Amino acid sequence: MILAVLVCAIVFQFGIIAWLLFIKTKAPVKAEAIATNTPEKVAAFYNETTDKFLKVYGEIIQAFRTTNVEDYLKYTIESAGISNGMKIIDAGCGVCGPSSFIAQQLPEIKIDACTISEVQAKLGGEKLKEKNVEAQVKITLGDYHKLNELFENNAYDRVIFLESFGHSNNKPKVIYAAWNVLKPGGKLYIKDLFIRESANDWEQVRINHICGQINAAYEYQIGDLYEVVSAIRKQGFIISFIRPPQVDLTSFEHLTISNDFQNLFNIGKIDSWDDYVFPIDFFEILAEKPAFSLEEQKHLYHMNR
Ligand SMILES: C[S@@+](CC[C@H](N)C(=O)[O-])C[C@H]1O[C@@H](n2cnc3c(N)ncnc32)[C@H](O)[C@@H]1O
Repeated sequence: MILAVLVCAIVFQFGIIAWLLFIKTKAPVKAEAIATNTPEKVAAFYNETTDKFLKVYGEIIQAFRTTNVEDYLKYTIESAGISNGMKIIDAGCGVCGPSSFIAQQLPEIKIDACTISEVQAKLGGEKLKEKNVEAQVKITLGDYHKLNELFENNAYDRVIFLESFGHSNNKPKVIYAAWNVLKPGGKLYIKDLFIRESANDWEQVRINHICGQINAAYEYQIGDLYEVVSAIRKQGFIISFIRPPQVDLTSFEHLTISNDFQNLFNIGKIDSWDDYVFPIDFFEILAEKPAFSLEEQKHLYHMNR
């Protein structure tokens, strides 16, 4: 009897030690959210909802912005280093709100804009006519995963993604396509939302869940910053910067528009603020395709070429 009690006590102790070890070594929850979007689903989503976006957002379909959205577009021009005389691609152009503004600001610029949505391509074409920038901006209906098939290769100074990159379900493919259309020395600019990270498992589970809901509501696939940066670097780009958009709090719009949109149309609406953890960060990434051939001059670093 005493022996049996002793054996039980030892087994129990081992059990506790094993459990403690399990808790200590258990991997932390990773930042990742479920997404089931495809380019076809994204196209159907914007064909269905563009009129709703136009009612709330106007012709600039971006959540992170300044109260006066034109100030944000001027900031974008400066931040992406866009200047007169350049040839650029606006990948995921919406209804050409940003492209037509950029064209009006920089009369010598040439822009190829592309959207996956037929409805946006039609409305965008009308907007370009209305704003008299048809000679500068051309809109193409097409999938930005195939930029290298849609547009001339080695020909562009900038490829910009303004809250459009996160719709991709194959981000390395988009980065590859952008690389091919850029000239040596040309730059990729991405402004987007990325999943937040927390050291607290409970918070990370909430963040992942809420990002999954955003993905489902908007046919999105919110990116992981490190995976995106890794794909950009593996492609051969040199990172110029990664930073939150440099907008001060007095001019920041505070995402009011995206809340209004969600409440008005019940798309991605937040039903309860209990247990809500803010799930995303906004970043802009600028990366350069080196001006020399990486294949022929592997020994070079761009800073000392
Ligand atoms: C949030 S809207 C941003 C629109 C625009 N950049 C703006 O600032 O108004 C996302 C845009 O990305 C486009 N998009 C998403 N996936 C795409 C794809 N695979 N190919 C081309 N465009 C795509 C959508 O059609 C939509 O125009």
